[in-house]
Amino acid sequence: MDFEIFYGLNGVHFDKSKIASIDGLNGELIYRGYDIRELAIDATFEEVVYLLWYAELPKKAELEKFTADLRSRYKIPEGVIKVLRELPKDTHPMHAIRTGISALASFDKQADDLEMDNIHRIGSKLVAQFPAIVAAFYRIREGKEIIEPDETLSIAANFLYMFNGEKPSQAATHVMDTALILHAEHGSNASAFVCRATASSLTDVYSAVTAAMASLKGKLHGGANTAVMKALEEISSVAGVEDYVLKTLSMPGGRVMGFGHRVYKVLDPRAVILKKVSHNLAEESGDSKWFEMSVEMERVMDLEMDKKGKQIKPNVDFYSASVYRMLGFPGDMYTPIFAVARISGWMAHLYEQYANNRLMRPRLVYEGQRGLKFKAVSER
Ligand code: CMC
Repeated sequence: MDFEIFYGLNGVHFDKSKIASIDGLNGELIYRGYDIRELAIDATFEEVVYLLWYAELPKKAELEKFTADLRSRYKIPEGVIKVLRELPKDTHPMHAIRTGISALASFDKQADDLEMDNIHRIGSKLVAQFPAIVAAFYRIREGKEIIEPDETLSIAANFLYMFNGEKPSQAATHVMDTALILHAEHGSNASAFVCRATASSLTDVYSAVTAAMASLKGKLHGGANTAVMKALEEISSVAGVEDYVLKTLSMPGGRVMGFGHRVYKVLDPRAVILKKVSHNLAEESGDSKWFEMSVEMERVMDLEMDKKGKQIKPNVDFYSASVYRMLGFPGDMYTPIFAVARISGWMAHLYEQYANNRLMRPRLVYEGQRGLKFKAVSER
């Protein structure tokens, strides 16, 4: 029998959703009806998390209550910090943070309760505690003291504070908010799909989110931002960019990280915003090298892809690399920062999935042998 196979599940719709809409031909991303271009500049991350979860922007009192609840959950259990301390200092940060998230389940007596109220409680806790886990692992590995969260600060400001040990400026907080908003949600991307597929067996939220973290780590997904920075560091000058791109593209299956997307056939709207942010930071800081190298890489890729008749444009991970660099983050922490934002989207998907669950159980077309007869090991 002939079955149509959709490799990489390309073009497959597995459910309906009201969370986000991506128009890949017009470069448009919408969260619950609102264009990302407005949200990224005018909203705070907390407002966007509320919007993603409750399908409307919060009124003042609702936002205050939501924010206060998140802030009351900032502190992570001592036991999780102990787990992080036990890990070798050179552990890949995504292994470490995934382990920390997984460990949170052991300190939650209601980890397996799938009542919607409890799922929401865990969602708020995870959004509140991802930043603390990322910052704690970073500071442990650097041999620095862990900074206790500050409940007077927003998620963006508190994250920068716990990471760097200094209260951030308003400008840095605004950039962080923008980056978190732009990374918060993106439809049925690999990690969101894994999150929903894992939950579909009616396992718990921590397990589903741990699986999502595992998926995000890969360089074709969230790991791309770290790979972009690694490439920029290796190239190290604007003059070296063209050679690097040509060499990479000449290799069999060669990919320039931070370019291309399954859905966007034009420029990713998140990349447009992050490019502007990167430009502004470069001008303000006087450290324009990373932005200039990125612009040059985009130029060379455009030329080369034009020759091949392909539309391979920068995606969200491309300009976020130079933005994070100018905010002072080391390259291997970029994917964890992506996770600090994306936990909000994963939770929005989990609310939908648990509310209307069906076990995800697709099929494979078997092409192996049949009819073989078992022989004892002595006869093989
Ligand atoms: N560099 C060079 N060529 C590329 C690239 C790239 N970055 N991306 C796609 N192509 C080419 C690819 O070689 C293929 O050519 P051909 O048809 O001649 O074999 C064609 O474009 C289609 O590529 P594909 O891999 O079939 O497309 P896909 O939809 O399966 O892959 C992708 C999408 C994101 C995995 C891919 O574009 C890629 O590997 N990009 C680099 C990694 C990256 O930046 N990932 C972040 C994605 S966006 C944020 C996120 O999800 O985290």
